[in-house]
Amino acid sequence: MLTLNFNPFPILFTERLVLRQFSTGDANEILALRSNKAVMQFINRPLAGGIEDALQYIQKIIDNGNNNEGITWAIAFKKDATLIGTIGLWQIDKENHRAEIGYLLNPQQHQKGIMQEALVAVLDYGFSNIGVHSVVANVNPANEASKKLLVKNNFVQEGYFKEDYFSDGQFLDSAVYSLLAPLK
Ligand SMILES: CC(C)(COP(=O)(O)OP(=O)(O)OC[C@H]1O[C@@H](n2cnc3c(N)ncnc32)[C@H](O)[C@@H]1OP(=O)(O)O)[C@@H](O)C(=O)NCCC(=O)NCCS
Repeated sequence: MLTLNFNPFPILFTERLVLRQFSTGDANEILALRSNKAVMQFINRPLAGGIEDALQYIQKIIDNGNNNEGITWAIAFKKDATLIGTIGLWQIDKENHRAEIGYLLNPQQHQKGIMQEALVAVLDYGFSNIGVHSVVANVNPANEASKKLLVKNNFVQEGYFKEDYFSDGQFLDSAVYSLLAPLK
């Protein structure tokens, strides 16, 4: 059984980025991201309607980390602390050493290798520090950017579920990708 401990919060650094803890000061950026239809197109969660929704989301993320249930990082450039995206390991299945990955990036920063950089750091943290054996990603099959990112990082599509997800009055398909821990 995995024992999780995200206290103190593990800040991660990459070449260009810092992956840090959320704060209520990120509310405007979270609202901008989570109310953006294009960004949320494949996330299939209700759009944030106002600053209260963003603050509630931030509190949920902070509580989740404090309670050692899952961890989500705010992504920022080292030179500017403004949140540009999020990445996290959640739905952590302690018994089976498995976690789900999720990520989201401000469209102004797309296709610059930002999520690639963040993902490598988070996967390394997941395998080396948390000790997960596998990471799963549940993707809307139409999400070409996310599928490309996953395959580039050696995730393999292991399943395809037809109309298993009910969102906004529609039954949607899911593609399930996973990556096993590197051999030691
Ligand atoms: C998915 C997402 C995080 C990718 O972030 P990103 O920083 O733009 O991705 P990167 O620049 O690191 O690119 C990684 C790879 O994916 C490819 N890629 C990125 N966006 C792409 C797109 N729109 N179409 C095709 N390929 C794309 C890149 O070309 C790169 O592959 P390459 O090095 O072989 O060229 C970003 O598109 C996003 O935030 N989307 C909205 C939220 C979302 O859908 N999250 C995932 C839910 S499962």
